[in-house]
Amino acid sequence: MTSNYITKVAIAGASGNSGKVMTEALLKTGKHTITALTRAESKGKLPDGVISKPVDYSKPETIVEALKGQDALVIALNGYTPHEIDLALFKAAGEAGVSWILPNEWAPDTANENLIKDIMLFPSKEINRKAIADLGQSSYVAVSTGFWYEWSLAIPSAYGIDLINHTATLFDEGETKISTATWPQVGRTVAALLSLPITAENGPCLDDFKNQLVYVDSFTVSQKDMLESAFRVTGTTEKDWTITKESAKERYEGGLKAMQEGDRIGFVKMLYTRIFFEDGAGNIESKGTVNELLGLPKEDIDEATKVALERSKTSPWS
Ligand SMILES: NC(=O)c1ccc[n+]([C@@H]2O[C@H](COP(=O)([O-])OP(=O)(O)OC[C@H]3O[C@@H](n4cnc5c(N)ncnc54)[C@H](OP(=O)(O)O)[C@@H]3O)[C@@H](O)[C@H]2O)c1
Repeated sequence: MTSNYITKVAIAGASGNSGKVMTEALLKTGKHTITALTRAESKGKLPDGVISKPVDYSKPETIVEALKGQDALVIALNGYTPHEIDLALFKAAGEAGVSWILPNEWAPDTANENLIKDIMLFPSKEINRKAIADLGQSSYVAVSTGFWYEWSLAIPSAYGIDLINHTATLFDEGETKISTATWPQVGRTVAALLSLPITAENGPCLDDFKNQLVYVDSFTVSQKDMLESAFRVTGTTEKDWTITKESAKERYEGGLKAMQEGDRIGFVKMLYTRIFFEDGAGNIESKGTVNELLGLPKEDIDEATKVALERSKTSPWS
C-alpha cells in the first residue's frame, strides 16, 4: 500500500445484519471500493455498488484470490460460523498482503476475563485477536460495540422488555448501566476507522489503534432508562405495564441451566443477563470509548427505541 489511506475494503458477511450496515456506511464515504466475499450458496442481497467475489471458505486459495489487492478486511460473519473460517480468513489475508483486519468482534467487552469465562461465545473473539497478532502479517482493530440496541430491545428475553405486550423484568433493581450501540453507529464506526490516515497526519490515525480492542457505544443506560424511552415511544406510562424483578445472578444461572437442556431462550437469558451484573462488565463507556476521537454523533434513544418497536413486531425471538 503506497497511499496513507485505505481505499479497498473487503467484507466477509456484507449481506448480513451488521455487514450490510457497515458496507452502506463505507460506501457513503465515497472513499472506498467495497468487495464482498460471498459463498456460492449465499441467499443474501448485497447493497448496490458492491463488487461480489465468490469464495469457498473450505478452499483457502479462493479466499486469497478474492483478497488480493485489498487494503483491509472486515469480518461480520454469522456468530455461529465455524471458527476455522475466521482462522482461514486471517491466513489468506496475510498471504494476499491485506494490512488491516477488523475481526468478527462486535460484542460486549471480550477483554474482560470474568465475562469471557461466563459467556461461552466470547473466548473465540480473544482467540481471533491473538491469532492475527501471532501470524504477524496483518494488524487488527477489534471493535467492541456492546450488544446492539435495536436488535436486543426487540428480543424480550434479552433486555427484559417486551415492547408489544408491555411487560418488563428488571434484573435486580434495573439500575445497572450497560453500553449498547445501534447498527448505524456500528456502521459509522467502521467507516470512520477505515477513513483515518494510516500514520499520523494531524489527528488520530489507524496506527493509534493497531492491534487493539476499541470500544464504541450509542448509549450507556440501565433497563429503567430503556423503559422510560419505551413509555415515551409507545405513549404509555408505568401503570400500563406489568413490571417484575428478578435477581440477575439467578436469571443468568437459570438461563445457563435451560440452555444446557437445549432451550434457546435459556441461551439468550444467559448471554444477556451476565452483562447486567453489578460488576460493571457491561459498561464499556467506563473503559473509554473512541466515539469522540472518531467524531461519532450523539444519538436519540427514542429514535432507536422506535426502530426496536418495529423490529419487535416481526422478531423471531418474541
Ligand atoms: N452485539 C450484538 O448484539 C450482536 C448480535 C448478533 C451478532 N453479533 C455478532 O456480530 C457478528 C455478525 O453477526 P450478524 O448478525 O451481522 O451476522 P448474520 O447476519 O447472521 O450473518 C452474516 C453473514 O454470514 C455469512 N454466513 C452465514 N452462515 C455462514 C457459514 N456457516 N459460513 C460462512 N459464512 C456464513 C452470510 O454471508 P453470505 O451469505 O453473504 O456468504 C451472512 O450474510 C458476529 O460476530 C456475531 O457474533 C453481535
